[in-house]
Amino acid sequence: MRMPPVSAFHTTAVWAARYSRLLGIPSCLLKPPRRGDISLFKTTAQRDKHMASIQDGRGGHTRGMTAMPKVDGGVACTATLEVSVASPEEMEETGAFFGADASGGDVVLLWGDLGTGKTCFARGFVRARVGDPGLAVTSPSYLLDNTYEVADEDLTLHHMDLYRLQGGTDLRVLGIPGVFETCVCLVEWPDRLGATQPVNRLDVHLTAVNEEERILKFIGHGAWWTGVVEDFQEARRTRKLR
Ligand SMILES: Nc1ncnc2c1ncn2[C@@H]1O[C@H](COP(=O)(O)OP(=O)(O)O)[C@@H](O)[C@H]1O
Ligand SMILES: [Mg+2]
Repeated sequence: MRMPPVSAFHTTAVWAARYSRLLGIPSCLLKPPRRGDISLFKTTAQRDKHMASIQDGRGGHTRGMTAMPKVDGGVACTATLEVSVASPEEMEETGAFFGADASGGDVVLLWGDLGTGKTCFARGFVRARVGDPGLAVTSPSYLLDNTYEVADEDLTLHHMDLYRLQGGTDLRVLGIPGVFETCVCLVEWPDRLGATQPVNRLDVHLTAVNEEERILKFIGHGAWWTGVVEDFQEARRTRKLR
């Protein structure tokens, strides 16, 4: 397994801000990685374990079902951000930002009506993580679950669409909740999950304003997704993204 590409950290300042927060170390003491340097933790499993121990204060849990969000002064660690997305291309770019660093245990729930751009967001996310900008990422509406393998890594991405899931169907036919702990999962129509929604997750609420404009509301739950949402906000503020 490899660590996420360092290019996804965008800027030294953003990198330092994220890791100083996660590790509880002043950012001035952190040596930023160089491009191609993957040295903070040797494996994603190490990083996951370390971050989970920060999140729940005990350690040894993955970031999915079992790890509780970091609680700071009694308030769960979350970040909320609302942005306007003007085109399908921008929607894919947005998905790509959130997908670039994804690793096992990352779960993204995509909330919104038909045609609001959930699959479009997932397309950008999956293409960025797999590293193939031409990859066919189509709606999983009929198959319920499309999977993508990341070459040279022991990592599977699941893109699920639960719209047609029959009421009362046992979610275990889709490997839920186990896949939430080991794989990267994007889920359209996540209301079908009921109480099976992981604690640590990214919620994306999509709303159509008109033919082209969409409003996206991000709610990052847990330390990892909180950091990613804040990084995205910073990237937009500094015009690295629209
Ligand atoms: N800003 C936008 N973001 C995403 N899709 C858009 C946007 N503007 C127009 N569209 C169109 O809306 C449709 C979204 O489809 P899709 O991603 O399959 O939605 P969903 O999965 O939510 O049903 C596509 O036809 C896309 O071209
Ligand atoms: Mg869809």
